[in-house]
Amino acid sequence: MPVIDVHNHFFPRSWPDLAARFGTPNWPWIKHTSPGKAEIMLGDRFFREIYSACWDPQVRLEEMDRDGVDMQVISSTPVLFAYERPAEQALECAALFNDAALELCAAGKGRLKSFCQVPLQDVDAACNELSRCMRAGHLGVQIGNHVGEKNLDDIGIVTFLHHCADEKAAVLVHPWDMFGQQRMPKYMMPWTVGMPAETQLGIVALILSGAFDRLPRTLRICFAHGGGSFAFLLGRLQNAWEHHPVAHGTCELSPEEYLDRFYVDSAVFDRRALTYLVETIGPERVLLGSDYPFPLGEDRVGELIRSSDLQPGTKTKLLGQNAALFLGLPEAAEGKSHDEQRRAEPNQPRSHQLTYSSYLQVPELLSLQHPQSSPAHHDELLFIIVHQTYELWFKELLHDLDAVVKNLRDAGENPDSRDEVYEAARLLRRCTEITRVLVEQFTILETMLPTHFLAFRGKLEPASGFQSEQFRELEFLCGLKDEKMLRYHRPTPEAYAQLERRLREPSLHDVFFEALRAMGKLEIPDGATERQRFDARAHAVLSLYRDEQSNRDWIDVCERLTEFDELVVGWRLRHIQLVERIIGTRMGTGGSAGSSYLKLTLDKKFFPELWEARTLLAE
Ligand code: HEM
Repeated sequence: MPVIDVHNHFFPRSWPDLAARFGTPNWPWIKHTSPGKAEIMLGDRFFREIYSACWDPQVRLEEMDRDGVDMQVISSTPVLFAYERPAEQALECAALFNDAALELCAAGKGRLKSFCQVPLQDVDAACNELSRCMRAGHLGVQIGNHVGEKNLDDIGIVTFLHHCADEKAAVLVHPWDMFGQQRMPKYMMPWTVGMPAETQLGIVALILSGAFDRLPRTLRICFAHGGGSFAFLLGRLQNAWEHHPVAHGTCELSPEEYLDRFYVDSAVFDRRALTYLVETIGPERVLLGSDYPFPLGEDRVGELIRSSDLQPGTKTKLLGQNAALFLGLPEAAEGKSHDEQRRAEPNQPRSHQLTYSSYLQVPELLSLQHPQSSPAHHDELLFIIVHQTYELWFKELLHDLDAVVKNLRDAGENPDSRDEVYEAARLLRRCTEITRVLVEQFTILETMLPTHFLAFRGKLEPASGFQSEQFRELEFLCGLKDEKMLRYHRPTPEAYAQLERRLREPSLHDVFFEALRAMGKLEIPDGATERQRFDARAHAVLSLYRDEQSNRDWIDVCERLTEFDELVVGWRLRHIQLVERIIGTRMGTGGSAGSSYLKLTLDKKFFPELWEARTLLAE
C-alpha cells in the first residue's frame, strides 16, 4: 500500500516581484541566504526560514525515499492566499503559484501531485481558477478556513465547496490569519494556540450552520493539523447542542453525526493524541499529513503513525489507503508502495518499460513553458521556447568544453600522447557546430513583430539575459572572467556559488597555454609584464604554425578555438541585431543601456593570442 502525505508545502525557487507588479507592499518574496537556504520575507519583515526541499524536486524525492513516502500532494503556503487583497491580484498570484506547483510536480517522477489555491474572496474567480487547475492536473484545492470575517459557512464559500464537489476536487482546509493576534504576539502562539482554534471554528461553522446538510456527500474535505482542537472538544460541543437550544444552530443532526462528512490529517505530534483522534473521528477519516518541510512539520514523515499503538490495518489506512480515497485515486488504494514493489520483484525489470517519452521525459519538458502574460500572448510561447533551447545548448556546450579542458590538461601532462589532442579537436568541432546553430536561431525569434514583443515585455522585468548563469559560465570557462558580473546572480545563491567556482578554476585558455608550456613551446620569464606574457603566448602559437609538419594536431585545436571565438562574436553581433530590430535602442530589462552596452562586448575574445599570431605570421 503506497504511503501518501496530503499536507506539505512548497515554495518555488523564485517568482516575480509581486510588490512591484501590483504597486502594494508586504507581498511575500524569497531571499536566498546561502546555498540551499532561503528566507521568506513579507515586505521588510522576516516570516520563515526554508530550505531547498521547498523548491528542489531532487531533494524532496530523496527525503521521501528516506522517510518511506511514495507520494506527496504539495500545496502553497497560506501567506500566499492574498484573500485580503483585490481579487484580480489574488487570482494572478494564485495562477502563478498553481503553475509553479505543476512545474515542480512535473519533475517529481509521478510521485508529486498538487492542490491549487484560489482567490476565495471572489466566488466566480475562485470557481474558474479551480476548474482551470483541475483541467491542468491538480488533484484539488487548499483553502484558508476563513476569508476576513466570513467563516466556511458563508454562502459564497459554500457555493465554492459545491463547485469543488462538482469538479471532483479534494479540499484541504488550512488555518491562517489567526484571530486574537494582539494577545499572542510571542512564543509562536498564533501557530500553537490560534491555528487549532481556527480549524475547530471552520469545522463547527460547517456543522452548526447546516452547510453539511446542503453540501453533497460527494464533497471530499479534510482539515489540517488533526482538525485542530475539534476532536478534543467534541464532547463539549455535543453537550452544548443537547442542552442549550441556543447552541443548536440550524443543522439537522447532532454534531457527532457529521463525523463521516470530513477528514482530518495526522499532524498532532503525540501518539496519545493520534489514538484519540482515530477513536473519535474514525480510522477511515484520518490521513497522513506532515507539514513537511516547515519547521513545525514532522521530522521523519509518517513516524508518528508507524510508531503508534494502532492496529497494523489502521496504520495502513492512515498512511495511504484513506488518502487515496480522499484524493479520488482508488487505483492507488489498490497499489503497492515503492518498497513493496522492490521487495516483490527484486530481479524483475521495472513494470514500466522504457519508452521514447519516459526516457526523454517529454511530458515534463512540455510542461515547462509558463507565459507571464494573461491571457497568454501568442508569441510568448515562442519567446520562452527559443530561450529554453539556447539554455539546453549552453548546457551541452559546457559539458563538451569541460571535456576539452580535461583532454588538454591530460595532453599537457603527457606530451608524447596525441590521443587527447585529437579528442579535444573533435569535441571543439562539435562546439563550433552547436554555436553555428545558436547564431542562426535568432532568425526564428525575428518572426516576432516588435509590437507583439512589447505586448508582454513589461511582464518580464527585471528578468534579463544578464542572469543567464550558463552563458556567464561559458565565458568564465573559456577564460573571460569578469567578477563584476556575479552581482546579477545574487538572488540565486546556487548560481552564484557555481560561477565563483568557475572563477577559481583554470579556464580553457589557461590549460591550453599550460599544455604548450609543458611541451616546451612557451616560456614566460619571472617578473614578465602582462604585455610580455601576452606576446610570449602569441609567439608560442606562432611557433606551432611555423612547423606545420610536426604540429598538425595542435594546429587543428588552434583552428577550432579560433573558429569558436569567431562564432561567439558572431552570436554577440546577431543578438545585437535582434535587439535593435525588436526594441531599437531602448534600455534592457536588466537595466543596461541596451544595444549600445551590448556593442561594447563585441571586442571580447576568448583567445586573443590566436588572433595576434596571425598578425605575426603575416609580418
Ligand atoms: C526579444 C529578444 C531579445 C531582446 C530584446 C534582448 C535584449 C537584451 C538586452 C537589452 C540585453 C542587455 C542586458 C539588459 O539590460 O537586459 C541582453 C543581454 C543578454 N541576452 Fe538578450 N535579448 C533577446 C533575446 C535573447 C535570446 C534569445 C538569448 C538567448 C540566450 C539572449 C541572451 C542574452 C544574454 C546571454 C545576455 C547577456 C549578454 C552579455 O552580458 O554579454 N537574449 N539581451
